[in-house]
Amino acid sequence: MNVQTLPAEKGNFNLKDYEKTVENFDWTEIEKEFSWYETGKVNLAHEAIDRFADDSEKKNQVALYYSDANRDEQYTFEDMKKLSNKAANTLKDAGIQKGDRVFIFMPRSPELYFAIFGAIKIGAIVGPLFEAFMEGAVRDRLEDSDAKSIVTTPTLLERVPVDDLPQLDTVFIMGEDVKEEGPYYDFKSRLDKSSEEFDVEWVDREDGLILHYTSGSTGKPKGVLHVHNAMIQHYQTAKWVLDLQEGDVYWCTADPGWVTGTSYGIFGPWLTGTTNVVRGGRFSPQDWYETLQRFKVTVWYSAPTAFRMLMSAGDEVVKNYDLSNLRHILSVGEPLNPEVVMWGEKVFNLRIHDTWWMTETGAMMICNYPSMAIKAGSMGKPIPGVKAAIVDDQGNELPPHRMGNLAIDKGWPSMMRTIWNNEEKFNSYFELDGWYVSGDSAYMDEDGYFWFQGRIDDVIMTAGERVGPFEVESKLLEHPAVTEAGVIGKPDPVRGEIIKAFVSLRDGEEVTEDLKEDIRTFVKKGLSAHAAPRELEFRDKLPKTRSGKIMRRVLKAWELDLPTGDLSTMDD
Ligand code: WT7
Repeated sequence: MNVQTLPAEKGNFNLKDYEKTVENFDWTEIEKEFSWYETGKVNLAHEAIDRFADDSEKKNQVALYYSDANRDEQYTFEDMKKLSNKAANTLKDAGIQKGDRVFIFMPRSPELYFAIFGAIKIGAIVGPLFEAFMEGAVRDRLEDSDAKSIVTTPTLLERVPVDDLPQLDTVFIMGEDVKEEGPYYDFKSRLDKSSEEFDVEWVDREDGLILHYTSGSTGKPKGVLHVHNAMIQHYQTAKWVLDLQEGDVYWCTADPGWVTGTSYGIFGPWLTGTTNVVRGGRFSPQDWYETLQRFKVTVWYSAPTAFRMLMSAGDEVVKNYDLSNLRHILSVGEPLNPEVVMWGEKVFNLRIHDTWWMTETGAMMICNYPSMAIKAGSMGKPIPGVKAAIVDDQGNELPPHRMGNLAIDKGWPSMMRTIWNNEEKFNSYFELDGWYVSGDSAYMDEDGYFWFQGRIDDVIMTAGERVGPFEVESKLLEHPAVTEAGVIGKPDPVRGEIIKAFVSLRDGEEVTEDLKEDIRTFVKKGLSAHAAPRELEFRDKLPKTRSGKIMRRVLKAWELDLPTGDLSTMDD
C-alpha cells in the first residue's frame, strides 16, 4: 500500500547528507560530543546527568517531570545528580561493587530513576524488571544472572524468592519502617541519610551497563548485555530520530522494564539534556491526552497498540485537549499500520514516524526521520552507520522486493555484547555468514525503504511486548490439569497479536469456564499478566514431531485456516 502522508519537515537530520554518509558513516566522529573524549573518564551516568548538573546553564532545567495518581514532582538536572549520588552511596555502603548485577523491581517512581543511575554510577550492571512480573519470571532472571542485589517495594518483595537465591545478599526495600535484618535494607531511610556527593566509578567503554531479559522461541528468557559504549548510538539517534532539540519536552510511554523504556525512556533523552516526562499508572486515553497537554509535550514516543487504543476511543476525545505543542510523534515495537498513520495525521495533523530495532540492537536501526518522506507501512531506512540488508538462508544479499531475513552488518555502537552465560546463543545470531540475523522477515523496496513482513521464529509480539511461546507452554504444563500445550500469536486488530494456547487435558478433566479461568490465572500468577493466554482451545491431541516437539506452525495454520504445509515430520 502506498498512502500519501503529510510532507516532510526540517528536523535535526539533514537528508542531503544521507546518501553521502549512510555507507561509510564514521561513529568515532560522534565520540567528540562526550566529555570522555577529552577526559578519558567514561560513565554513562556522568554524561546523562552530572555533565548537565555541572553546567550553570543547564543545571536548573527540569530533567524529570514525574506524576502518577499520588505524586506530582519535578527534578532538575542538579537534583537528579544529588539524588542519584545518594542512591550510589546507598548501594556502595551496602557492599555492592562494580560489575555486580543490581535488579530494579519497582513500579515507576522517581526513586526508580535515582536507583538506576545510582547503580550505573558505581559501575554495577542494572537489571530492570517489569513490575508485572510474577515470582517465576523474577526467579529465572535473578538466578541466570547471579544477581547480588535487588531494589524493590514491600508489595513486589513477595514475588522475590530471596531464600532460594544464595547470591542475592542485599535486598533494598523502598517502603516505610523497613526492618533491617539479614539481607534486607531500608532503601528510603538510607537514601535520606546518605551523602549528596559521590565520586563516579569510571569504567571502560566495554564494561557492562544493563542486562535486559528478552524472549526467544526456545528456552528461557535470555539476558542481553549492553555496555556503556551504547551511549554513542542512544545519543545520536535521540538527535536524528527523536529529533530532540533545546526546549523540547519529551515523553516516552514505555516502561523501563523493557528496552524502549531504558534506551529511550532514560538514556537517549538525558544524554541530550532533554526534559523527560514520566507518567506512572495505567493506560487510559483521557489520562494520556491530559499528560500530553499538561506537560506541553513536544516529542512523543509510543507504540502501535497504544495508538490503536487511542484510535478506538474515538476522535471526539482528542478534541477536548490542547495538543498544540506536539511537534514530533514516533512509534516502535510492532508493525505500524497505514490506517494508524492516517489517523494520526487526521487528529494530530502530524506524521507518526515508525522506528525498527530490538532489545539486542540496543538502539534504533531502521527509521523515519522528520526530514524524510514517509511511506506509510514501511519502517523507513537504516540510519547512517548501520548497514541493513535482506539476505537468503545462506547469507546472500537479495535484490529489492525479494522477501528474506532482515539482517545487519556487525559493528554498530549499541550492539549487545553477549547473551549472559550463553555464548552459544549469542553466536547463533551470527550464523548466516557473519550477519546479525534479526529473526524478522522483510523486504526492501527500490528506494531503500524496509517493509516488515513477520517473525521467522515463533516469537509473539502482543501489545508491543515480546513473549516466548516456550515459557508460556512450560508454565501451562505445570498446571495439574494440563498434559500438552502449544502457544501461538493470533492476529488481533488492537494488540497486533494475542496469545492463544492449544491445550490438551488429563483424562477425566472436563472443560469448564472455571477451569479455563484457573489456567489463565495460573499463567498470570506464574509469569505475568501479559503472558497469560487470552484464548484457550482444548484438543484431545496436539500436533507433534516424532521427537515430541509441538508443531506451532500447524497450530497457526489451524487457527488461520491455512494449509498446514509439510507434515512429514509429524508423529502419526
Ligand atoms: C521485535 C523486537 C526495541 C523496540 C521494542 C521491541 C518487532 C520492533 C518494529 C517495527 C515491526 C517491529 C520485531 C522485532 N518490532 N519494531 N517498527 N515494525 N516490527 O523490542 O521486544 O526486542 O522485540 O519487535 O519483530 O524483532 P523487542
